[in-house]
Amino acid sequence: MNLLDIIYDGQAQYLQRAEEMVAKVVAEKGKETPVKFPGTAYALPCIYAITGKKITNVGELEDALALAKEFIHPAKNLQAGLDAGTASAMLAEIIEAVKFVYDPVPYKGRDAEDLNTADVRTLGHLPDAEVRSFGVALVTQDIPGVAVLIGEAPDAETLANVVKDYQQKGLLTFMVGKVIDQAIEQNIKMGVDLRVIPLGYEIESVIHVVSVAIRASLIFGATAPGDFLAHRTYTKDRVKAFVNVFGGWDNKIIAAGAAAIELGFPATVDKYINEVPTLLLYQPDYEKVVATSLEARGIKIKVTEINCPVSVSSAFEGERVRKDTMFAEFGGNRTPAWELVTSVDLADIEDHKITVVGPDIDDAMFEEGKTVRLPLGVLVEVAGKDMQADFETVLERRIHYFLNYIEGAMHVGQRNSSWIRLTKEAFGKGFRLNHIGEVLYAKMRDDFDKVVDKCQVTIYTKQEDVDRLYAERAKPVYDKRDTRMAALTDDSVEEFYTCLLCQSFAPSHVCIVTPERLGLCGAVSWLDAKATKQLDPTGPNQPVVKGTAIDERLGIWESVNEAVATNSQGAVESVTLYSILEDPMTSCGCFECICGIMPEANGVVIVNREHAETTPVGMTFGELASMTGGGVQTPGFMGHGRQLLGSKKFMSAEGGLERIVWMPKALKDDVAERMNKAVKEMTGIENFADMVCDETIAVESEAVLAFLEEKGHPALAMDPIM
Ligand code: SF4
Ligand code: NI
Ligand code: NI
Repeated sequence: MNLLDIIYDGQAQYLQRAEEMVAKVVAEKGKETPVKFPGTAYALPCIYAITGKKITNVGELEDALALAKEFIHPAKNLQAGLDAGTASAMLAEIIEAVKFVYDPVPYKGRDAEDLNTADVRTLGHLPDAEVRSFGVALVTQDIPGVAVLIGEAPDAETLANVVKDYQQKGLLTFMVGKVIDQAIEQNIKMGVDLRVIPLGYEIESVIHVVSVAIRASLIFGATAPGDFLAHRTYTKDRVKAFVNVFGGWDNKIIAAGAAAIELGFPATVDKYINEVPTLLLYQPDYEKVVATSLEARGIKIKVTEINCPVSVSSAFEGERVRKDTMFAEFGGNRTPAWELVTSVDLADIEDHKITVVGPDIDDAMFEEGKTVRLPLGVLVEVAGKDMQADFETVLERRIHYFLNYIEGAMHVGQRNSSWIRLTKEAFGKGFRLNHIGEVLYAKMRDDFDKVVDKCQVTIYTKQEDVDRLYAERAKPVYDKRDTRMAALTDDSVEEFYTCLLCQSFAPSHVCIVTPERLGLCGAVSWLDAKATKQLDPTGPNQPVVKGTAIDERLGIWESVNEAVATNSQGAVESVTLYSILEDPMTSCGCFECICGIMPEANGVVIVNREHAETTPVGMTFGELASMTGGGVQTPGFMGHGRQLLGSKKFMSAEGGLERIVWMPKALKDDVAERMNKAVKEMTGIENFADMVCDETIAVESEAVLAFLEEKGHPALAMDPIM
């Protein structure tokens, strides 16, 4: 069979299965039964993007079949073959959707605590929130690419080598088929947080990663549903995905491969096939699969040499260290632990000097089999002619990420609330405290090379040193910074910054970052932007010299409008910084929270990405989020960072924080302290958070209103919001 006939045969198999399943579900469940993937605002996302049609019930699956058939017109040319690939993708999505009609959780890994120990270990469909959570990592190239592994490698070790290689390089790896069992056999840690995602055993489940790519286009690109060419262009140019097929292919796999190629994703196979140059590649040598794939997709990986016995990769950032796997622990209320980055004179430190003062984790004083607990002080001294005191906090906050990158290390908190855990496995591989120094040294030098010419790390583990140096060195620096931060307001600075980082995914989105309004992703503060400008002068953060405001209340500046218009290529011409009703700032899609108006309460509800349930406005985070994003302005809806909830500038044009009437409890607990402080300073109201409703009190509109009235919530007495 030639390549085209292979594709047509594979596609015919999808068609047969889809037709049978649709006929069965129509007969058994009736046409009115809803069809839905959980946690998405885009119905059957692939079919929606390709055709513009939202399929919502069993009856409409018949329409979906007809739409897929429009792509079937076998002929002896490549485009006809690729169209058969598109049809296969749509049919696979129909097949998967039917599975969700019969069982709300067809992929049981969704309910499992730990994928690696569960006997049902597949995740299938990813909700919008997970797709959005990849946003920042993708734009910063922290996730440099997406690998899709299909089939079964000749042996588990071969598979493990490939997966570990991708994981070490920070890629997001999706798995379909027996490769999942092979990964588990080899103890590869899996999960969305660990960037190794087992989708399912049947080839149809591959549609769930196609759906992720397509939703990136819908969410971040604001690409119109139905404009398939635009979606293909988006995925080809911006989603750095590729496919590796192991253990030989069959016709269905190749038909799915045709769908991938149509989206711009190259594929490798290990059994001979007629190659399509740069797109379908025969690579029988498993040691070369990774290199071939990265090259085919144009992915370049930056490597940093680090003296460390375990892997250090952003892919391990989300790894948790539980009690039973823990070897050592620092901080976390059991022992004091702090971390400090401080700048000193070049002459005062020695580059790459790493010292551990006090007992290490293998010290003889520790009883075998008991968790090692030590006080900890991590002092990172940096020096450089372009280093500024303002950058210290930017560098210090990176400690959290750098230590989490260590395979077998978990870091939580910051400053003197730092909390570190190390696994037995890491200890067994030879990880010791000096390696914390090695990792911090290498990463600081690497990421901040323009300002850090020398870096020295000292780790203290004796109680008296940890206490003394906290008082002498750390505390005074923290205090000084807090005073500086408090004085840092939108009014007190001369310039704001643009952030264009998300333009690689949301081409017309521009964030304006100010001292009182950090980027909506929560990852870029005004100080971060300022430091990035220094590190990368032509990079994503450029100063916008404020000048005088056109309107102080709404927060309109001519300079800001110009910067937004230029950088959005004219897509957005004016934004306000302090209003959510008049020309609100646009969103890319990776925002931490979204707010929307609840008219009857004369206020707004706020929901964070992690909260999956519905809100008093009758929409979930995902549904609210789909109203905005992709660099589009939608008055009344605004994406923002968590930290904005402690800012006096939060929608100050409409009355500010006092307008908040509802938010999920977890978010409220997280922001309460800062929010209460800001509200008190502005209005004198004490403990404002207690007046804000949450899901443990009420979600339904009338009950929410009753609660607000009982509490005398200030929003009820304010001017009408709209
Ligand atoms: Fe993206 Fe805005 Fe965050 Fe920059 S500040 S990374 S543009 S969300
Ligand atoms: Ni880690
Ligand atoms: Ni973004």
